[in-house]
Amino acid sequence: MPTPSSTAAVLFLFLSLFSATTITSAHNITHLLSTHPQFSTFNHYLTVTHLAAEINRRQTITVLALDNAAMSSLLDRHLSVTTLRNVLSLHVLVDYFGTKKLHQITGGSTLTSTMFQATGAAPGTSGYLNITDLKGGKVAFAPEENDGKMDAVFVKSLVEMPYNISVLQISQVAVNSAEAEAPASAPSLNLTSILHKQGCTKFADLLSATGAEATFEANVDGGLTVFCPSDTVITSFMPKYKNLTDSEKLSLMLYHGIPVFMSMQMLKDNNGVVNTLATDGASKFDITVQDDGEIVKLKTKVVTATITGTLKEQDPLIVYKVDKVLQPGELFDADDVAPAPKGAKTKAKGKKKAAEADSPDSADAPEGDSDDATAADEDQNGVGKMLNGGSLATLALSLCIGLMFI
Ligand SMILES: *[C@@H]1O[C@H](CO)[C@@H](O)[C@H](O)[C@H]1NC(C)=O
Ligand SMILES: *[C@@H]1O[C@H](CO)[C@@H](O)[C@H](O)[C@H]1NC(C)=O
Ligand SMILES: *[C@@H]1O[C@H](CO)[C@@H](O)[C@H](O)[C@H]1NC(C)=O
Ligand SMILES: *[C@@H]1O[C@H](CO)[C@@H](O)[C@H](O)[C@H]1NC(C)=O
Ligand SMILES: *[C@@H]1O[C@H](CO)[C@@H](O)[C@H](O)[C@H]1NC(C)=O
Repeated sequence: MPTPSSTAAVLFLFLSLFSATTITSAHNITHLLSTHPQFSTFNHYLTVTHLAAEINRRQTITVLALDNAAMSSLLDRHLSVTTLRNVLSLHVLVDYFGTKKLHQITGGSTLTSTMFQATGAAPGTSGYLNITDLKGGKVAFAPEENDGKMDAVFVKSLVEMPYNISVLQISQVAVNSAEAEAPASAPSLNLTSILHKQGCTKFADLLSATGAEATFEANVDGGLTVFCPSDTVITSFMPKYKNLTDSEKLSLMLYHGIPVFMSMQMLKDNNGVVNTLATDGASKFDITVQDDGEIVKLKTKVVTATITGTLKEQDPLIVYKVDKVLQPGELFDADDVAPAPKGAKTKAKGKKKAAEADSPDSADAPEGDSDDATAADEDQNGVGKMLNGGSLATLALSLCIGLMFI
């Protein structure tokens, strides 16, 4: 009976490849800039901050590019990646400006929305740039509140693909980082209370019971993506959860966080393997992201979960709801899920014996049989044989890492 699921997997892979090609056909900022070596630093940081993917998915966009010298004075400020992302996103206009349009601004000046504004990271109107056509053919770029200071000016056009994307060099950073820093250091997000408010009470309780909460909290400011299984999913998983040791419980919880901010679009654009908070050098604890256009799935070696909604999106934190507990291959045995006839039967027998022998109270496993348990727990018997020497070492390591974070 392995055919339906493997057929589905192949079909799925095909669909995701297909959708990936259609998404990327418009333009590729990384590629466009690669022919301009004097913009290599700027190009590099567009990738590091994940702005490149956001730029690629948009149409009608203008990128104000900084050459390596201008980037070097920006980098001298030693900004966090989040702040740097904010600064650079203030240099991406969500409108098309070619050289011609720049010099024909009605009334001599205009306010234009930037990607910083568009992503909602900006408080008030600080996400707008003021473009002013100065006398003598000079065009200047400045934040909205600029006290008449307009130091960053248009230098030359690098790429113009009307009306999809244009890349214009400007002489220096158009905004001082104060505008961009505000939201990054804004009232720090309290993950626990957000989870409680968003119907993730049981997940939040487990985070705090295992001590994983501290690691999650420590990662919020630098960017954090959280996958929260709903309360009913957690409830039906509890019998299996209770079988884990403390360090395994901690690893399992850390597995539900990615130490970067990944919007839905970024997940779709970056199909592939992502690391989690449980990842370290020795143990992978990774998740494979796959989308079929609309639906994003998270695959572990044991389960495939679906993202069913976004509970909270406030850069640098995003919390998604998922329909299953993400069970890492490092903790749970994938073999138990695959309906491999011969081996599985023998294993199942062995396990049943073991169960009868040493757990007289297994009958009181509470909500395991409720209706919503089926989806989450179709692979329920995975936990019985998850511990061998190798995974034990792995677990010990991941616990150490977890503790380092705390
Ligand atoms: C964009 O171009 C770069 C450099 O040419 C390449 O490495 C990258 O894979 C491209 N990205 C996409 C999404 O096609
Ligand atoms: C842009 O800034 C200049 C200089 O401070 C100012 O005179 C102009 O009114 C501003 N334009 C807009 C549309 O706000
Ligand atoms: C702009 O994008 C559209 C759709 O992707 C494409 O058909 C068109 O050729 C592009 N225009 C230019 C100038 O590249
Ligand atoms: C988050 O809020 C909870 C109450 O909702 C509080 O107990 C906790 O101390 C707060 N944590 C931080 C880091 O402020
Ligand atoms: C928990 O472990 C016991 C003993 O190994 C086993 O009998 C039981 O089936 C396990 N429960 C789950 C839900 O895996």
